[in-house]
Amino acid sequence: MPDFIANSPAFKPPAPQPEPKVAPDFVLPPFTEQLYPSAIGGHRDAIVAASLPVLADVAAQANACEKCELCKTRMKAVPGVGSARSGIVFVGEAPGADEDLRGEPFVGRAGELLTKMIEGMHQRALIPGVKLDRDEVYIVNVLKCRPPDNRNPLPHEIEACSPYVMRQLEALQPRVICCLGKFAAELLLGMKGTISSMRGKTYRWKGAKLIVTYHPAYCLRSPSAKRPVWDDLQRLAQEYLTD
Ligand code: URA
Repeated sequence: MPDFIANSPAFKPPAPQPEPKVAPDFVLPPFTEQLYPSAIGGHRDAIVAASLPVLADVAAQANACEKCELCKTRMKAVPGVGSARSGIVFVGEAPGADEDLRGEPFVGRAGELLTKMIEGMHQRALIPGVKLDRDEVYIVNVLKCRPPDNRNPLPHEIEACSPYVMRQLEALQPRVICCLGKFAAELLLGMKGTISSMRGKTYRWKGAKLIVTYHPAYCLRSPSAKRPVWDDLQRLAQEYLTD
């Protein structure tokens, strides 16, 4: 069991989980696009090189963005951090107070947990031969600016901001996208649903496989969610390793 689960003071052995339910009207689209490459065998070098100017341009645009009211209350925009090298992208919701101060996603308590989750994947060698840490994956949010008082993103904010994350994903060409929470999942899947109805399946976003899991902030509030998150990360690794 990785440290981020076992060291949790509130850790309890997992209760048997009912089978995850998928929104009944959701039909998986056919997988027609060629899968983006994994990092095994150096097949991502060209993607890494091509992604750099695009990621820099998105960051410059986000830093100067005035498309919604959040620009008036932000300290710093939070474009994203990491690299296309591993081919794994984590998509969160929106910056919180710590991220707003630093201009970097997932640096507060939820971020510490996300970092431990990524390191746990590396320590357990879930993807043998692929280094996994914050510098090797890419970490990004649906919104680039902090909503006041950490309220949920509003639909018009998501609409205004989502072209940035879409452009980042197009440049990153991830092998696997991990949606952390409802806002990322709903945006990238184009469907509404609860996390428990959406997780436990593998979806597609262009040439990436996509999985959904609980947001690390939810795991801090409900530590028993860490076990299903670890299950989801193992699914992510399996999907990464298979065509
Ligand atoms: N929660 C998020 O969704 N993103 C962050 O960057 C921090 C907390």
